[in-house]
Amino acid sequence: MSVAKRDLGERKVTTHRLMEMKQRGEKISMLTAYDYSMARIIDEAGMDVILVGDSASNVMAGNTTTLPITLDQMIYHGKSVMKAVKRALVGVDLPFGSYQGNSREAISSAIRVMKETHADFIKLEGGSEVRESIERILCAGIPVMGHLGLTPQSINKFGTYTVRAKEESEARKLIADAHLLEEIGCFALVMEKIPATLTTRIASELTIPLIGIGAGRGADGQVLVMHDMLGITEGFSPRFLRRYANLKEIITGAVQSYIEDVKRQDFPNEKEQY
Ligand code: KIV
Repeated sequence: MSVAKRDLGERKVTTHRLMEMKQRGEKISMLTAYDYSMARIIDEAGMDVILVGDSASNVMAGNTTTLPITLDQMIYHGKSVMKAVKRALVGVDLPFGSYQGNSREAISSAIRVMKETHADFIKLEGGSEVRESIERILCAGIPVMGHLGLTPQSINKFGTYTVRAKEESEARKLIADAHLLEEIGCFALVMEKIPATLTTRIASELTIPLIGIGAGRGADGQVLVMHDMLGITEGFSPRFLRRYANLKEIITGAVQSYIEDVKRQDFPNEKEQY
């Protein structure tokens, strides 16, 4: 569907609308954002869902994994994004260590995120292992998006960022977890880096939307990390990543021109001073 034909009015995207989009076969667009200025651009461009991902740990804070980011830091990013967004549905990732310990900790983390950021939903990683935490959060009326397949918060267990669920037993567990998360009430799932055939199968079995990243064309929507698709990050070129711009080159060019103009006393000129 062309951007012109889509409903880009002020009407806020809701979890219910995502379900309707799945039902009518309209693909869901989702992108990460972590700050006010970028969130405003992304929202005005017509994105359906904006995720304040814990990938902020990598792309904003320069960590090599998502593990170090804290709940306070996620809330800071969430608040900044929420100040900008008018239309998109906005979710905030619960960071590593804020929900796996027990369901009491999980509900208090989720409530802090919702109260302090005013986000629309939270996302967390894992299946049956975190069932109790998800159920508790859902009981408080907080919409939950699940995240299965490659779950970066478990990188130390996996050891690598390679494709998940290629083996029969892992694929079976993934399918069971996807059904479980739908049954207990998650409104959508992210599936990261799994075989395309598995995505197509699970998406057709579930009624809730399945948003893929490196999960193929069969998903009900796609999500990417903003810095990756805009060409700001370097040294990260997985097969699934399409770069829509090379902002690093554009920014470098602009910054170098500015340096040059200052050095040769071209900036500021007569008109650019008071
Ligand atoms: O943190 C993140 O950016 C994510 C997306 C990759 C889905 O979880």
